[in-house]
Amino acid sequence: MEDLILGIETSCDETAAAVVAGAARILSNVVLSQVPVHRIYGGIVPELASREHLRGIVPIVRQALEQAGCQLRDVAAIAATRGPGLVGALLVGLTYGKALALAAAKPLIAVHHLEGHIHSVLLDRRQQGLAEPEFPAVALVVSGGHTSLYWVERYEERFRYTLLGKTRDDAAGEAGDKVAKLLGLGYPGGPVIDRLAPAGDERAVRFSRPKLKGNALDFSFSGIKTAVLRLVESRGLAPAIAARQAALGGGPPDAERLRALCDQPTLDLIASFQYAVATELAEKTLQAAEQRNAASVLLAGGVAANRRLRRELETAGRRRGFEVFAPPIRLCTDNAAMIAAAAWPRYRAREFAGADVAAVAQLAL
Ligand code: KG4
Ligand code: ZN
Repeated sequence: MEDLILGIETSCDETAAAVVAGAARILSNVVLSQVPVHRIYGGIVPELASREHLRGIVPIVRQALEQAGCQLRDVAAIAATRGPGLVGALLVGLTYGKALALAAAKPLIAVHHLEGHIHSVLLDRRQQGLAEPEFPAVALVVSGGHTSLYWVERYEERFRYTLLGKTRDDAAGEAGDKVAKLLGLGYPGGPVIDRLAPAGDERAVRFSRPKLKGNALDFSFSGIKTAVLRLVESRGLAPAIAARQAALGGGPPDAERLRALCDQPTLDLIASFQYAVATELAEKTLQAAEQRNAASVLLAGGVAANRRLRRELETAGRRRGFEVFAPPIRLCTDNAAMIAAAAWPRYRAREFAGADVAAVAQLAL
């Protein structure tokens, strides 16, 4: 069997650990979500995130080793996310990774969170025994904190990333969560929008596309959020929103119940919002792929779980001659298997982190 990497991820609100063999086979992938802790605040509270990571990190790593049927001494290296993310959250996983590496005399590999998302695509293909995407590729990494387009080049086992475009304001996932909150759909809102949108008419509301000066591959999602807010006011949706909030009572958003609490114009608004975001993301990604003559297109990050976005990019991509690769849903949102997979090329190149490696909130890839 290929060497085992223990991955650790704590950049945001998931405490995660995984054991992956040779960036190809997931032996365990444990994710402890903090959503119930942050829900009552309607968003992530950094101090609470750090506290929850501190609580979760030891049992989660232990569980990942147990489920993989191995012990710390069996792993070849420890990989931990070093950025970007919430610095207090990152510190927990990175410091714990360092301590384990020191105690067990294992090398430590520091991983960029977005490189992890990109490698979730490759990990899935290898695990399934399918052909890997061809490079150079354009990768759209779209999550709660990021919306970025990268040009990814591969030289045998090494990868090089060039940023082609990014959001100037909100990340797509953040915009979805804010719009859901605005419409009384609870937290986190992305998955609920995904579930409710098929019941609405996505052509009902036409949102204008943002006009940006400068880099044509940059994104902006704050305008559409404001447009939804204006529609809520002009259409007098506030009472229905208050009724939904009361019905949820701070509990988890239940798509079935919410569906019954949404009238048709609200469902149309949800569908139209999702359509506008999905088409904007797909259009710019394919534009980049065409400009650069990419060999393939990769889609990764939490919002890559969105079914409408996947369909849009896949069908529009096929029409324009690109094969689009996206990981299965469970590998889209934050996890540590992707961190272990992204560490693999560095492991092979013996590119290890020193004990002085620091967590960095804003870290370029
Ligand atoms: O990658 P991720 O787990 O964490 C970050 O690195 O940010 O992404 C979380 C984001 C949240 O904004 C969440 O609402 C969104 O991904 N998300 C979705 C779906 N599942 C998760 N957005 C739309 N449709 C989904 N199915
Ligand atoms: Zn992420």
